Amino acid sequence: MHKNQGPVYYGDYLELNKLLDTQNPLSKKYGDEAHDETLFILVHQVYELWFKQILHELNSIKKIFSVEKVQESVLSTVSSRLERIKKIQTLLLGQLEVMETMTPMDFLEFRELLVPASGFQSVQFREIEILLGLSTSDRKEVDREYFLGRLNKQDQERLLKIEKEDTLFSALEKWLERMPFTFKEDFDFWKEYQACVEDMLCGDEITIFSNVANMTPKALEIQKANLQSTRETFDTLFNEEKYANLVKEGKRRLSQKATLNALFVLLYRDEPILTLPYTILSHLMDIDENFTTWRYKHALMAHRMLGTKIGTGGSSGHQYLRDAAENNRSFIDLFNLSTFLIPRSQRPSLPQELRDEMNFNYKD
Ligand code: HEM
Repeated sequence: MHKNQGPVYYGDYLELNKLLDTQNPLSKKYGDEAHDETLFILVHQVYELWFKQILHELNSIKKIFSVEKVQESVLSTVSSRLERIKKIQTLLLGQLEVMETMTPMDFLEFRELLVPASGFQSVQFREIEILLGLSTSDRKEVDREYFLGRLNKQDQERLLKIEKEDTLFSALEKWLERMPFTFKEDFDFWKEYQACVEDMLCGDEITIFSNVANMTPKALEIQKANLQSTRETFDTLFNEEKYANLVKEGKRRLSQKATLNALFVLLYRDEPILTLPYTILSHLMDIDENFTTWRYKHALMAHRMLGTKIGTGGSSGHQYLRDAAENNRSFIDLFNLSTFLIPRSQRPSLPQELRDEMNFNYKD
C-alpha cells in the first residue's frame, strides 16, 4: 500500500480546472450560444470517459488471458471486471435518455456547425470494437469504408497498429482452444457427443413417422426437410472443411476448436471447474447484447433527431446505424451455441477420473 505524501486537495486531485474548462460550444464562438450544445458536448465527453474505463478493463483482461496458462485464481478477477463493464453499459444506455431531452429543433440550432465531425471519429469506440474482435477485415463491406475512413492519419495509424496486435477476442479464443477436458487417451468426448446427437435426431425421426397418419404429405415433407437441415447444422460443427468455409464467408468468427470447447463449457457448466468459465462466457454475451441494444437505441435516437437526413459523417444516418447494429456482433458464435445444446439427461456421461478432476477432488 502507498503512503500519503502530503495533503491532497479535491479539485487538484481530480484536475477539475482542466476538466471543467473543456465544454466550449461552437455556437458561442460564432455568435448566439445554442443552449443545448453544452448538453451535447457534455454527454459525448462523459461517454468518452466511460469508454476509457471500459478500455482499461478490457486491456487488463486481455493481458490476463495472454499468458500460456491462465490460473484458475485469476478468473474471478476477470469475471468481476466484465461485470463492471456491464454496469457501465447500463449507464451508457441511460445517457441516451438524457440526450433525447434535446429536441430535433434544438439540435438544428447548432448541427450544421459540426460537419464533418461524427461518432465515426470516436477512436475509443473503435478501439473497443477492435478489442472485441471487430477489426476492419471482420466487417461487412458497407461498414469498412466508414470504419477508419473518417479518421485523421494519426488516429488511423493508432488503430491500424492495435489491429495488428492480439485482441481480447483472439486471446479468449486461444484460452478456449487450450481447454483440456474433451480428449483423454481412452475418452473422446466429441465422438460420444455425436452419437448422443444421432440418438436424439433418430428419436425426432421416429416421432415424425409415428405421427404420419395425422399429417398431410406436404406437412410431412416440411418436417423431414427441417430434420435434415438440423442434421446438416450439427454436421458443420464437426466437419473441418465446412466449418472453415463458414469462417471464410464471415458466418463464424470463433475457430472450430474454441467453439467446441465453449460448447463443452455450456453443456457441463455445473461441474465446479467450469463455473467461472461459464460465468465469463455469459458476461461476454451480456456485453455483446448490451452494445447491440445501445446501437439500436442510438439508431432510433438518430432517426428521431434527423428523420431520413444523412449523418454529419456522411452515412445514410439511422438506416446505416441499424444495419451496423445487426452486423457488428462480437460473440454471435456463443449465442448460436444454443443450437447445439442437448438435454442434460442425453449428454454423454463423463469418466469418473475426469469428473474428479473437474470437481477439484484431491487425495490427502
Ligand atoms: C443528437 C444526438 C446524436 C445523433 C443525431 C447521432 C447520429 C449519428 C449518426 C447519423 C451516425 C452515423 C455516422 C454519420 O453519418 O455521422 C452516428 C454514429 C455514431 N455515433 Fe452518434 N449521434 C448522436 C449522439 C451520439 C452520442 C451521445 C454518442 C456517444 C458516444 C454517439 C456515438 C456514435 C458512434 C460511436 C458512432 C459510430 C457508430 C458505428 O459506426 O457503428 N452518438 N451517430
